[in-house]
Amino acid sequence: MKDTYILAIESSCDETSVAVIKNGHEKLSCIISTQIETHKLYGGVVPEIASRQHVENITIVIEQALKEAHMNMEDIDAIAVTYGPGLIGSLLVGVEAAKTLSFVYNKPLIPVHHIAGHIYANNLERSMEFPLMALVVSGGHTELVYMKEDYSFEKIGGTLDDAVGEAYDKVARVLKLAYPGGPKVDKLAHEGNDTYDLPLPLDDDTYNFSFSGLKSAVINLNHNEKQKSHEIRKEDLACSYQNRVVKILTKKTLRAMREYGVNNLIIAGGVSANKGIRDEFTRLASEKGFNLSIPKMEFCTDNAAMIGAAGYYAYKLGRRANLDLNAKATDKLN
Ligand code: KG4
Ligand code: ZN
Repeated sequence: MKDTYILAIESSCDETSVAVIKNGHEKLSCIISTQIETHKLYGGVVPEIASRQHVENITIVIEQALKEAHMNMEDIDAIAVTYGPGLIGSLLVGVEAAKTLSFVYNKPLIPVHHIAGHIYANNLERSMEFPLMALVVSGGHTELVYMKEDYSFEKIGGTLDDAVGEAYDKVARVLKLAYPGGPKVDKLAHEGNDTYDLPLPLDDDTYNFSFSGLKSAVINLNHNEKQKSHEIRKEDLACSYQNRVVKILTKKTLRAMREYGVNNLIIAGGVSANKGIRDEFTRLASEKGFNLSIPKMEFCTDNAAMIGAAGYYAYKLGRRANLDLNAKATDKLN
């Protein structure tokens, strides 16, 4: 069978990334130009600066990705691009670049939902097995998605307020850790003990999540201790916070798997890089005997390889976009 090569573009937030993916599984190249150092100065992503930097980077990153894969545009079968959700100004840069390449080189244009990309990061180097439950945890999303087969997404629950990564970043700010704070809270959590009395958030019988109450509890606790001139034990607070997050994520995910009769679990999104989450789900998988897949660290946070992995299936299913494809700040996973 002829091999299929997808050139994929991702620019939904603060990473300009381009990849070449063979047959949906094999990464031939994946270049990521991150803007973290710039946004760190402001304590978070500044959308106007992000889009301007994407404009400066995109052509260079496309050239690098092709060069590293030892390919020309003529060798590429289709162009996949993240059209949403994300920062509109950032998305537009990737979408316009993809449309231009599609037009100039007469290649099919494949629209990819960012979360489909995070999920398919689990299909790089191995194949996902169905039916499966996907726990998506990122800076913008916290969702449980049931997948009967390839490219079929049934969202069974999601966050009612903050996404888990967003809550991590806010807790990090309270603890005076630099952006992006999630990984730093994770590291601190492993140096401390669970000594602070924090609530288990939205411990109900739905598949929804809520992290703003837990985040506020951390903010209030920090404030109250300061008022009393008590020193906050950052490591212990990070550990207590992380334990609540891990507890509620594992509890609801395992119940969803039981109720949907699913023995395959995948974890996706930037927060799947979290050691506390990886370790506890790994422990549970061996204790309860289910199959667990978590992407390699390099494919957890935003990257174009995952967009190429998802784009391959979208391409096979005949999904195409025209040159009127527009970026969408929000859109249902489909
Ligand atoms: O998926 P992603 O790269 O971007 C979005 O699509 O949102 O996720 C970024 C988020 C940030 O909030 C970042 O703090 C969080 O993932 N994150 C982590 C860890 N690594 C990244 N959160 C907790 N622990 C980590 N180790
Ligand atoms: Zn993401």
